[in-house]
Amino acid sequence: MAHSAFPMNAWYAAGWDLDVKRDLLPRTICGISIVLYRRFDRSIAALEDACWHRLLPLSMGRLSGDEVVCGYHGLVFNSDGRCVRMPSEDRISPNACVRAFPVVERHRLVWIWPGDSALADPALIPDMHWADDAEWAGEGSYFDLKCDYRLVLDNLMDLTHETFVHTTSIGDDAVAGTPLQANHEGRTVDLSRWMIDVEAPPFLATQLCQAHDLAEPGKVDRWQLIHFEAPATIVIDVGVAPTGSGAREGDRSKGISGRVLNTVTPQTADTCYYFFQYARCYGLDDRALSTEMKEANIRIFTEDKIILEAQQRAAVRHPDRPFVNLKIDVGSVRARRAIEQMIAAERAEDHPGGA
Ligand code: FES
Ligand SMILES: [Fe+2]
Repeated sequence: MAHSAFPMNAWYAAGWDLDVKRDLLPRTICGISIVLYRRFDRSIAALEDACWHRLLPLSMGRLSGDEVVCGYHGLVFNSDGRCVRMPSEDRISPNACVRAFPVVERHRLVWIWPGDSALADPALIPDMHWADDAEWAGEGSYFDLKCDYRLVLDNLMDLTHETFVHTTSIGDDAVAGTPLQANHEGRTVDLSRWMIDVEAPPFLATQLCQAHDLAEPGKVDRWQLIHFEAPATIVIDVGVAPTGSGAREGDRSKGISGRVLNTVTPQTADTCYYFFQYARCYGLDDRALSTEMKEANIRIFTEDKIILEAQQRAAVRHPDRPFVNLKIDVGSVRARRAIEQMIAAERAEDHPGGA
């Protein structure tokens, strides 16, 4: 069942919780068309989006209670995928089913397991608790991107691009000029970069002044601590604190920090969903600030979208030109290796003995 570009046995985000309603929501996840909806009790059902009869997407039908009525000849499927009514038949074939997928709502995201259901252990859902924690605030959003999901991961694993892509918001020479430390273990890769005694970039300078009532941010120590978990989740601990206030040693009380939460879901080999949120730990009651920051994030990530989709088109035009890796790519090289290992492990399970 393994695909060459992405592991199937993994949890992938299908949407933010608010994307799934009492309505039929079609999503493509790892090449599979899936329809999601909420039952009356608010739990979420996820079914293959192709009718058992003649494959019309069930998402083109309608919800009736907790059941889905196909929009072509009216077969009715319950939320486990079993056909419970065939309007023109006397008896229902016991084979009349569509696949139902394991689905878990956690940390305000809806996670789907497209692979072998027997392996779907909720303990493997990546930690995104900052999206759903009383000590943190923020609003999530997402992009539908026309690029390989791994290009998004490469982008997040190498933040030196901020210096050149996000010149007006978070990028300055300090990022590209400071080396980073890399560690990897199993399915995770950690990268850390500390920029000491630098100017705060506008996005973080504003937050520092707001949070501590400062007229000027002054010189700061700035950090970017990136945590990747294969196949497709990246949490980045970012922040600034006045230089010399001890942030690197562990005292962040004079500074501000946030978590950039990112998870990417392959739709096909060359399209993906990119879910993101900036979570902050001050001004928690300020709902307008959450929306303002979400909009700032969308502006910043729109700059990435333009680059990533152009990069994808170029990669398709030049299939004979593999990517070149520089020192800055250490994080993405290791992330891609962790993904490859998951795919190889699935292949070995599909074909024991290498057959
Ligand atoms: S295609 Fe769905 S009922 Fe015929
Ligand atoms: Fe970026």
